Amino acid sequence: MLPIFNFSAGPAVLPYAVLEQIKRDVPSWQNSGMSVMEVSHRGKDFMAAAAQAEADVRDLLQISDDYSVLFLQGGATLQFAMVPLNLAGQSDVADYVLTGSWSKKAIADARPLCSVNVAADGTDGHFTAIPERSQWSMSDSAAYVHVTTNETIAGVEYQEIPDVGSKPLVADMSSTILSRPLDVSRFGVIYAGAQKNIGPAGITLVIVRKDLIGMHRKSAPRILTYEAFATSDSMTNTPPTFAWYVAGLVFSHLKSLGGLEAVAKINKRKAEKLYAAIDVSDFYSNPVDENCRSRMNVPFVLSDPALDGRFLAESDAAGLKNLKGHRSVGGMRASIYNAMPEEGVDALISFMQEFEKQNG
Ligand SMILES: Cc1ncc(COP(=O)(O)O)c(C=O)c1O
Repeated sequence: MLPIFNFSAGPAVLPYAVLEQIKRDVPSWQNSGMSVMEVSHRGKDFMAAAAQAEADVRDLLQISDDYSVLFLQGGATLQFAMVPLNLAGQSDVADYVLTGSWSKKAIADARPLCSVNVAADGTDGHFTAIPERSQWSMSDSAAYVHVTTNETIAGVEYQEIPDVGSKPLVADMSSTILSRPLDVSRFGVIYAGAQKNIGPAGITLVIVRKDLIGMHRKSAPRILTYEAFATSDSMTNTPPTFAWYVAGLVFSHLKSLGGLEAVAKINKRKAEKLYAAIDVSDFYSNPVDENCRSRMNVPFVLSDPALDGRFLAESDAAGLKNLKGHRSVGGMRASIYNAMPEEGVDALISFMQEFEKQNG
C-alpha cells in the first residue's frame, strides 16, 4: 500500500509509534483486562497515568512549580472565554493582538466579558505579518495581553516571545506547542487544544501561573474557573480519559526522541526545505513575511488557481492527504506538525516539482 502522509491542520497526524501502542493497549490496558476508556478516572492506575502525563509535559517544557498544569475540556475555544472570566476579574480591560482568524475569534469571544483593547491589528497587511512590537498600543490598566503565537490558517508564527513588561502574557499555542523549546516563565497563561501536537481532540492543555489562580470574577460558574481544576487535579468532573492517556503517550514519545531541542531541529529542517521549494519556483508562492513564517502550517498558492482542483486530486491520489487550504484563504496548506515524518515533506516536495513540470 502507498504510504499515506496526512497534512491535516487538525485533528492531525499522530506519531505512528503512539498509534501502535494504543493498538496494543486497547483490549487490556496495563493487563487489567479492560481498556483505558472503561476504568474510573479516580482509580489508582488512571490517576498514576494522569500524573505521569503531567510530569512528562512539565519535563518537556521545563515548567516550574510556580505554574499549574491543567487538563481541561472545551477546546482552545472555551479558553477564549475562560481567560477573560478568570483574569479580567479585577481590571476589566484586556489587550489583544490581532494577527489572523484565531485571534479574531478570541477577541470576539472576549468582548462580552471584558473591555477589549486591540493593541495591534494586522488586518491591513492581510495577516501576512505580525505587527512590530514597537507599534503595539497597550492599555496601562490591562489585566493581561493576549497573543496567538501561531495562526494556523494564515501560517504566521511569532519567532520571539514579545516583551509586555509586567503584565501577564496569555498565549493561544494550539498549533505550535511542543514544536520547540519554550521559556514558560515569560507567560501568565498558555493554552492549547490537543488535536495538533498533543493528541486527539477533546482535551486542552492549560498552563497557568499560580498567582493568577483565584482572580476570577465572583459570578463565574465554578466549572469555568482555573481554581476549580487546579484544586482537583483537573478532575472537577469526569475528564476525557482516553484523550489524556494518548496525550501522555505523545509526551513520553517526544521525550524518547530527545525532547524539544531535538524535535525543534527536525521541525526547522522540514519547514526550511518546504519554504525553499516554494520560493525557488514561480509556480508556487507563500505570501507570509519571511520573519514570521510558521514552522507548523505552510500555506501556498499556485500561480494559476484554475489548477488547484487538479493539484488536490493528484496529490491525494499520491497519498498526500488533506492539503486543501482553509476555505477562508483558498489554495493549499501543508500542516507539518511534530508527527509529520520528514519523508512526508520530501514526498510533498517531489510531488510539487513533478506537478510543476507537467503543468507549469
Ligand atoms: C490557533 C488556534 N486556536 C484555537 C483553535 C480552536 O481550537 P478548538 O477547536 O480546540 O476549540 C484552533 C483550531 O484549529 C487553532 O488552530
